[in-house]
Amino acid sequence: MRVSGAARLAGVMGWPIAHSRSPHIHGYWLEAYAIDGAYVPLAIRPEDLAEAFSVLPKIGFRGWNITLPHKEAALRLVRTLTPAAERIGAVNTVTVQPDGSLTGDNSDAFGFIAHLDRSAPGWANDRAALVLGAGGAARAVCFALLEAGVPEIRLANRTLPRAQALAKANGPAVRAIAWEEREHAMAGAGLVVNTTSLGMHGQPPLQVRLDALPGDAVVNDIVYVPLQTPLLADAAARGLRTVDGLGMLLHQARPGFERWFGHKPEVSQALYATIVRDLLS
Ligand code: ATR
Repeated sequence: MRVSGAARLAGVMGWPIAHSRSPHIHGYWLEAYAIDGAYVPLAIRPEDLAEAFSVLPKIGFRGWNITLPHKEAALRLVRTLTPAAERIGAVNTVTVQPDGSLTGDNSDAFGFIAHLDRSAPGWANDRAALVLGAGGAARAVCFALLEAGVPEIRLANRTLPRAQALAKANGPAVRAIAWEEREHAMAGAGLVVNTTSLGMHGQPPLQVRLDALPGDAVVNDIVYVPLQTPLLADAAARGLRTVDGLGMLLHQARPGFERWFGHKPEVSQALYATIVRDLLS
């Protein structure tokens, strides 16, 4: 598909930006659906963020994704926030409205649940979930699980006050527990989610025994390099259902693409395989 002078424009803003997979994901869809559009990496320094937000709408951009380190600063640069962005406290998807004003959304929670629903249909949203970690990713996962009806979230983090702060922000359904309690907290849980960086390539493995986890529970790791983390390998060896982290990345891209380019994109096996190849190269 050739990009014409009337092409729809979008992109991803970060600093640095070269590592971002988003241009590949959106580029795949633009090609697959033969859309006259372009999605480009935007290397924006923190001190230039406000200027970028003001200029891009004027030069025809329909919106953009936000990645590190701008997700929180973006909260203050848009006119309206969706409930997800407000509750998660971070923006990853900006859309230019017809009047030129900006709306900030967060599609990480959507991406997380969409991938979980698809990879582990029937996962137990009526039982407790154990979430490991209390950073930005954990905020999105907690929001998503509460929206999905999970009655209780046990939140374990190395730095307990961070888990306590997140629990407080989410109300009584989220309970902070000490990092040392993470194995006991698996009793009766329907889902375990790792949102820490442990198990990621170059990081130490996540030390956690899954013995107390019921046999029908699902283990979800949002780390996607490697695709099969030691945690997921252990869970699979025990016969537990597993959900990898790559799908969340792919699904979180869907809302922005649909808004900017006017087509509901699919996370197909072919896209998945393409991005896996990309990660391995
Ligand atoms: P993100 O926004 O991607 O969630 P983050 O805010 O840096 O990133 O959070 C990383 C998470 O991994 C945190 O929960 C962090 O625990 P702390 O809050 O105690 O820092 C967790 N983490 C990182 N290294 C860890 C380690 N060696 N042991 C336990 N938890 C670790």
